[in-house]
Amino acid sequence: MTEKELELRKLAQTETEKKRPIVESDPNRLVYHVMPPVGLLNDPNGWIHWNGVYHLFYQWNPFAPDHSTKFWGHVTSTDLVHWKEEPTALVPSEWYETHGCYSGSAIDYNGKLTLMYTGNVKDEHNERSSYQCTAASADGTTFVKHGPVVDQLPSGYTAHFRDPKVWYEEDEQAWYFVIGAQTVNEEGRVLLYRSDDFEEWSCLGPIAGSRLGGLGDFGYMWECPDLFSLDGTDMLIVSPQGLEADGMNYNNVYQAGYFTGTLDRRVPQFKHGAFTELDRGFEFYAPQTTEDADGRRILIGWMGVPEQFEANQPTVSYGWVHALTLPRVLNVENGALKQRPAQELEMLRGEGVHATVTAGEAPTTAEKISGKSAELKLSQFDFHSGQAFEVLIRNEARIKYDLSNRVLTFERTGEDDKREQRQCALADLHELRIYIDTSSIELFVNDGEEVFSSRYFADVEDESIQFKSDGQVTCHADFWPLT
Ligand code: FRU
Repeated sequence: MTEKELELRKLAQTETEKKRPIVESDPNRLVYHVMPPVGLLNDPNGWIHWNGVYHLFYQWNPFAPDHSTKFWGHVTSTDLVHWKEEPTALVPSEWYETHGCYSGSAIDYNGKLTLMYTGNVKDEHNERSSYQCTAASADGTTFVKHGPVVDQLPSGYTAHFRDPKVWYEEDEQAWYFVIGAQTVNEEGRVLLYRSDDFEEWSCLGPIAGSRLGGLGDFGYMWECPDLFSLDGTDMLIVSPQGLEADGMNYNNVYQAGYFTGTLDRRVPQFKHGAFTELDRGFEFYAPQTTEDADGRRILIGWMGVPEQFEANQPTVSYGWVHALTLPRVLNVENGALKQRPAQELEMLRGEGVHATVTAGEAPTTAEKISGKSAELKLSQFDFHSGQAFEVLIRNEARIKYDLSNRVLTFERTGEDDKREQRQCALADLHELRIYIDTSSIELFVNDGEEVFSSRYFADVEDESIQFKSDGQVTCHADFWPLT
């Protein structure tokens, strides 16, 4: 370990221990989500099920709730529900990562938990360089850096070149990674790299991007790509920057979504259909997936968006900001993507309440259905004389389905205390499964057809959950407090 690394590690540790009590006194701290111990968290990184343990890393600034530097925080779990804080995995100590150990992924290479990430460097003129680096660990906690394996940009691309997602192709006995990129004409791209020995990497070229493969103008930079096959199709997940809002789509500052199609590694080319957003909520970006030992494709996202409701979230005054989403299992069924919360989350459930809810024009509550950390599943909707059905959580977040236009709306108070909403079209309402965790809500609609992930900030004393309609609507409620 270099002296610089030792020094940065010590600094981060001192800062963390100093600020931890203040952070932990925040009433908006979450109960069952991964959060930074102090400071800012952004992208999930290095997400892998390795030797029977889930390892999850994240972009982390231990010094302040802002983006000024990036370390890799690390947590582990054996059940996807309870997470243990591990020693910091990467600190930006070397010449090839002075301005941050940026996002990347993990793979088992020769029995070692091996990370591949972007070393971000800015010189005195603020000129950026990007190095794709590796670091490996035999025990899963202490990482030895191997430095850059790719230190040149391909011609025609800017230094906005980052976030390698690596995998192994059994049939070719070769490694591949996809990486987010920007052309000199400011078009977003995903590039494919290949290696026979995990040391020498060659750039095969772009596989998808703005103004490629039938897409029109589709953003000036594509971040955090992820590519895998799922239930007989190939899927490319990416976070494009620079899309314009279009009706109910693309309303956040930056988007995260997917294309399904076919990857031809030899051309290389990813032939794909239309882009679909993965999440309809206010806070979701830069997701990453891994396949676990059970063969499940599990996605975790950043419950935040760059430059959107970051500086003014109430948690900032307690010295921290952002969290990761719950783990979701992905499947493609009848051509449609389904995202379902990992079943293990049922472990959090306390004693259940099962009731029929009758919503009318005056807001109503249901006995024992209230709380700040809970799972609420609503099903068997019957729109007797009503056109609209609403759930109001802690007098702050509103979920509303309107049968007259078949639109689902999530509403909350956000930046500058303004009420704001996100929506999606929904032909029918069968199920609303709502994970409430103090200051976050993840809403899974119709068994994973749509998801809305958002932060919300309610009166800390308020634990109410109310139902309302413009006429009469009944449904079945299953409710569990989560601890
Ligand atoms: C996405 C991102 C990545 C980058 C990282 C830096 O949120 O901008 O492209 O590697 O965050 O923290």
